[in-house]
Amino acid sequence: MKSALTFETLARCSTTKARASILTLPHGPVNTPVFMPVGTQGTLKGLTPRQLEDLNCQIMLNNTYHLGLKPGQETLDLVGGAHKFQQWNRNLLTDSGGFQMVSLLKLAKITEEGVQFASPHDGSLMMLTPEHSMSLQNSIGADIMMQLDDVISSLTTGPRVEEAMWRSIRWLDRCIASHKNTDRQNLFAIIQGGLNKELRKKCVEEMTKRDTPGYAVGGLSGGEEKNEFWQIVSLCTDLLPKNKPIYCMGVGYAEDLVVCVALGVDMFDCVFPTRTARFGNALTMKGTLSLKSGKFANDFGPIEEGCECSTCKEYTRSYVHLVTTRDTVGCHLVSIHNVAFQLRLMREMREAIQADEFPAWIKQFFAGYFGDKSKYPEWAINALRSVNVDLLA
Ligand SMILES: *[C@@H]1O[C@H](CO)[C@@H](O)[C@H](O)[C@H]1NC(C)=O
Ligand SMILES: [Zn+2]
Repeated sequence: MKSALTFETLARCSTTKARASILTLPHGPVNTPVFMPVGTQGTLKGLTPRQLEDLNCQIMLNNTYHLGLKPGQETLDLVGGAHKFQQWNRNLLTDSGGFQMVSLLKLAKITEEGVQFASPHDGSLMMLTPEHSMSLQNSIGADIMMQLDDVISSLTTGPRVEEAMWRSIRWLDRCIASHKNTDRQNLFAIIQGGLNKELRKKCVEEMTKRDTPGYAVGGLSGGEEKNEFWQIVSLCTDLLPKNKPIYCMGVGYAEDLVVCVALGVDMFDCVFPTRTARFGNALTMKGTLSLKSGKFANDFGPIEEGCECSTCKEYTRSYVHLVTTRDTVGCHLVSIHNVAFQLRLMREMREAIQADEFPAWIKQFFAGYFGDKSKYPEWAINALRSVNVDLLA
């Protein structure tokens, strides 16, 4: 199908499957591998578009479900889309809305027609179809929009996994047929198939025939065994076309990002950095700091030495400790740092790939983040060994 993006790989790691590329979208370039921050409007958990711009963020994610409720499709059409609505001139990705419905709403029910759910307003039955999801996302105007897929838990087994995979393919066809702005919005397919390699293979085969501008690996990060997780990711990056971006949905822990980049993934999103900030947890290259702990009461250093974020430039650990134990403003300060951390982590990886020093960078990262080798996660050791990096050597 038609594409409104270009994807140019600048460097390939000579050891792993990692690559550094430039994804050019309608609202400008995105250096990949990239982490896309996600937050909901009006919560102190997230960052404002302005704050993301200050952090040099090139692409952010918004939820179609929330935008569809507020401001709503009519307002979005009037104002000319979500970029204008929220003064964001850079790239935007929207999900299909389906996942939010299945996870947020009771009584969500999947039928061939779409996802049926009870309206949060009056309880009446409503339906999110592939056509409706595309129509909403066309009104939002995101640079990347995701197909509606049949989401199941990664722990589901049996015939339901295959059913969901085939339905996701049929829904992709309906999304393609009803997508109106192929000249300025890119539709990504979502590979399903659970933890079953044969189904994943079949799904990749069918979806690549549709030739969408990019592909996502869906249905993971839901509590499955990590050894199964990385093998599915790796299988998908092996099978997907090399000239298109690959997006691994819902991945955001630092070690997961590092492993998945080594396996060849280009794009990520996760609510984790902002969600964990709410509990006063700050992410650093040396692991997580629980800033609510009393041991920071008299610590006058920044959250992380060398971090360029506004929180680290202006406030001490001692101050952030005080405010996180008091109110949500403190959590917002930690959110800013955590998103800056994610963006810095990705930048370091891109630079290491371009210098062809990624394996050494990975080793240094694990040493800093976990300290002792005995603390390295077994699955990460296995995953990295599959791409010729031996963490224990
Ligand atoms: C879109 O995401 C950004 C970044 O998380 C957030 O600041 C903004 O409020 C979101 N917009 C809406 C309408 O939810
Ligand atoms: Zn910081």
